Amino acid sequence: MEGIGITVTEHLLLHQKESPMATGRFTRLLNELIFSAKIIAREVKKAGLVDILGLTGEINVQGEQVRKLDDFANRVLIHRMQHAGVLCAMSSEENADIIEVPDNLPKGNYLLIFDPLDGSSNIDVNVNIGTIFSIHKKVSQRPYVTLDDFLRKGSEQVAAGYFLYGPSTMLVYTTGNGVNGFTLDPSVGEFLLSHPDIKIPERGKVYSINESYTCYWDEKTRRVVDYFKSPDNERGKPYGARYIGSLVADFHRNLFYGGIFMYPADSRDPAKPRGKLRLLCEASPLAFVVEQAGGAASDGQQPILDIRASGLHERVPLFIGSKLDVEQAVKILNG
Ligand code: AHG
Ligand code: MN
Ligand code: MN
Repeated sequence: MEGIGITVTEHLLLHQKESPMATGRFTRLLNELIFSAKIIAREVKKAGLVDILGLTGEINVQGEQVRKLDDFANRVLIHRMQHAGVLCAMSSEENADIIEVPDNLPKGNYLLIFDPLDGSSNIDVNVNIGTIFSIHKKVSQRPYVTLDDFLRKGSEQVAAGYFLYGPSTMLVYTTGNGVNGFTLDPSVGEFLLSHPDIKIPERGKVYSINESYTCYWDEKTRRVVDYFKSPDNERGKPYGARYIGSLVADFHRNLFYGGIFMYPADSRDPAKPRGKLRLLCEASPLAFVVEQAGGAASDGQQPILDIRASGLHERVPLFIGSKLDVEQAVKILNG
């Protein structure tokens, strides 16, 4: 019937046969994530009016100042997902260690990894931010969860995606059978299918990178950026420069317009030789999404999805977006 729209649950049921893992328990997991995102979106929408902006005064495991909305989003997700009855444990960008589901709560065998609020520096100035999530299934037969259950390859993810809190609130995710986008209709409180079967353009017209770090890059990284700024590249003209400072927002724009987002290694901080972005809760889930949309994601040497994590908060250089642009960047980096 015209004008009703397709909900996430309906879409999962419609495509259950193509996505065998989209079982009732997965649907429950996704719906709890959706409920959490609706709560976060509600706070984001009124952030200027209530005391949810600014800093908590704490420093997180990343060594970063924690913003109130970071903390709020993190607490909402941990509480909701512990009560979802489908997880055995989770890991948050904001928490040093894995977060188990208490024994008095029902459990399942899914593992959830998330960045509760990506783009935190933009929260206080009303610029797009988001929540990134990655879902694995526990494979070890141990009756309890250990760190090893999380140290997996991105190619083992069963689902991944993100919520984007902007002019509209969107959910973009994959279960390994393409990528679909849903937009929250506030009048009914449901995410409705708005962007079916998203495909990223093979070559883009935008490059995203924080060029203030140019003096900290190695020569090959500089050559990559010069390529995209040159009129003599494969495109025949310079790419447009776009950098929002929220990975999830820069990624989402490039997913639709085509282009490449780069956060390379730099020499700014000896403690972070592989750059700022985290493998498990940022690079890996977005790599799953972009590959399912026909794009590519690399650390400069290998596909992100081939990297087996060696720590919960391992950082990786990230080159992600249109397939031909990422391939070109990797070619220059290894030339
Ligand atoms: P988070 O807010 O989860 O810490 O992530 C911020 C990340 C990412 O969203 C963005 O692309 C990057 O930090 C921006 O870093 P710079 O300010 O160094 O460019
Ligand atoms: Mn982030
Ligand atoms: Mn974050």
